[in-house]
Amino acid sequence: MSEPKSSELMEKIVSLCKRRGLIFQSSEIYGGLNGFWDYGPLGAELKRNIKECWWRSMTQLRDDVVGLDASIIMHPKIWEASGHTTTFSDLMVDCLLTKKRFRADQIEPQSGTVYKYPGAECKVIYRYVGAESKETGLKVNKPFAVLLKKGEHPEKARKLAKQFYAQGSLDQAMKITDGLVLHGEVTAEVVLEVDPQKETTEEVVNSTGYNPENGSLLTDPRRFNLMFKTYVGPQDVPKPDFDPAANLEQWKAWRRAFDESEDNKTYLRPETAQAIFVQFKNVLDVSRQRVPFGICQIGKAFRNEINPRNFTFRSREFEQMELEFFIRPDEVVQKMAGAVAGLADPQPSTLDPQPTWGWELWHKYWVEQRVRWYESIGLGRDTLVEYWQKKEELAHYARACVDILFKFTFGTQELEGIAARGDFDLMQHQKFSGKSMEYFDEEAKAKYVPHVIEPSAGVDRLALALICNAYCEDQAPDEKGKLESRVVMKFHPRIAPIKVAVFPLLKNKPALVEKAKAVRDLLRPHMSVFYDEAGAIGRRYRRQDEAGTPFGVTIDFETLGEQGPALQDTVTLRDRDTMKQERVKIGDLAPMLVEKIR
Ligand code: GAP
Repeated sequence: MSEPKSSELMEKIVSLCKRRGLIFQSSEIYGGLNGFWDYGPLGAELKRNIKECWWRSMTQLRDDVVGLDASIIMHPKIWEASGHTTTFSDLMVDCLLTKKRFRADQIEPQSGTVYKYPGAECKVIYRYVGAESKETGLKVNKPFAVLLKKGEHPEKARKLAKQFYAQGSLDQAMKITDGLVLHGEVTAEVVLEVDPQKETTEEVVNSTGYNPENGSLLTDPRRFNLMFKTYVGPQDVPKPDFDPAANLEQWKAWRRAFDESEDNKTYLRPETAQAIFVQFKNVLDVSRQRVPFGICQIGKAFRNEINPRNFTFRSREFEQMELEFFIRPDEVVQKMAGAVAGLADPQPSTLDPQPTWGWELWHKYWVEQRVRWYESIGLGRDTLVEYWQKKEELAHYARACVDILFKFTFGTQELEGIAARGDFDLMQHQKFSGKSMEYFDEEAKAKYVPHVIEPSAGVDRLALALICNAYCEDQAPDEKGKLESRVVMKFHPRIAPIKVAVFPLLKNKPALVEKAKAVRDLLRPHMSVFYDEAGAIGRRYRRQDEAGTPFGVTIDFETLGEQGPALQDTVTLRDRDTMKQERVKIGDLAPMLVEKIR
């Protein structure tokens, strides 16, 4: 089969997500809300499986990591200490023409001829439907420019400039009409003159100052903090409806109320990590853990992304799975072990932690652990890229960071970041809270603030990666054995939303139905089971292929013993990917399937 183009493929994936109940647009019946998504019945199972797999591998299968489940809204000082109130921002630019907002670093550099205009003159006629009409002439003195690519006609620039000045003049004219009582719709006729004599041109190369979609000039970049603000308790003092200069006392009272309300201001957490740092001491006290050890957490995070895009890839509400793994500072390792093993040293393995390991080897260890985990849920190494950030790309707190990228249908993008954060976070919280974050290491006989390695992954991004990875189109025989194309979601059995589907061959044979329901009830305590008796068996297989159910069990007449005792109480077990069927004893089904899905 020929490979579909990536945008076509992405459309098919998005459509399947809706059709099969994996992912829906949030608030869809109200037109949706950009950057927010809901998970349907299959999506909810998929996400739960991802989180359970991660939690199990991070905590239950290890001695040295414990869990935390902290609140989403926390003391606002936390975000000052972490640096989020001052540095957690993106540069944004707006299109002067469409007002569309972009992240400045996502503007594709462009080259071409810029047509510049110093201003325009216009005459605006306002007509008020069912009310009155007014005529006014005005001048707009606002610079505007349009970038034309090679071969494009100057008329395009003139046309866009006219559109821009039409909007500009409308804004101003609307201000003049303030106070008018209007009924019905407001419409305006605009007669514009963009003077070709005043038009100048300039050649630009690799400029990011223009909207790649229409060539219009963009605003200068401005900082935009990505945290969602919220208020705890009494809040939101309305704007003053009096003149402060003429009512000084009233103004002071309003200001006091405003300042108090600002004291109640905090944020929806933009990452789960900070809660782990601020609970470090409490967890240490109760868990009997010793450094090196980790605290992990799964939970919602919120970022007011400027440009949510690529389906759920960049959302405004998402879930993170984060581990903060606390290690000894290299100086302490040096003192204890006499040497610090690093990346340059010949190492037998980065899988077997040693007391001589410095932060570099712990960092490498976690990169390897995380890649192995992705493999265990079906993302092979060939689908992943380990990107070691360059020094100039590192966040101010990071000594090193490896991004694990996945080859998404729309491009190779970050799935998880694994950062070596030094002691930055604990030191900041020690400074801002005044509470000691020091740890006394009995073995090292030293007191220190531990350093941190942080593997931080997104649940939603991983769900999307698994969906993109699973999507497959191939050929399967229909009822009559004729090949037809099928869509199959090849989820790894560990994370597949439904593990097994149980079908009676025919729904109008009570003995088959009864037996099939008994098999369903037998498997249910061990895994998610879907029972389906509606339609031809081929159609039922196809439905489950699209849902990504790895196994199908069919109860037929052999099961009932109609072909002799040898096949009695056996069923056919169908493998979704190979479509091969084998005969299995009902008594062997549960242990056999449990083995395959664990
Ligand atoms: N505590 C470190 C931290 O939060 P990050 O690289 O900003 O680091 C970690 O986020 C992971 O969270 C990312 O690798 C990604 O999987 C997920 N993530 C971040 N922003 C996201 C967004 N807007 N939508 C979906 N997932 C996001």
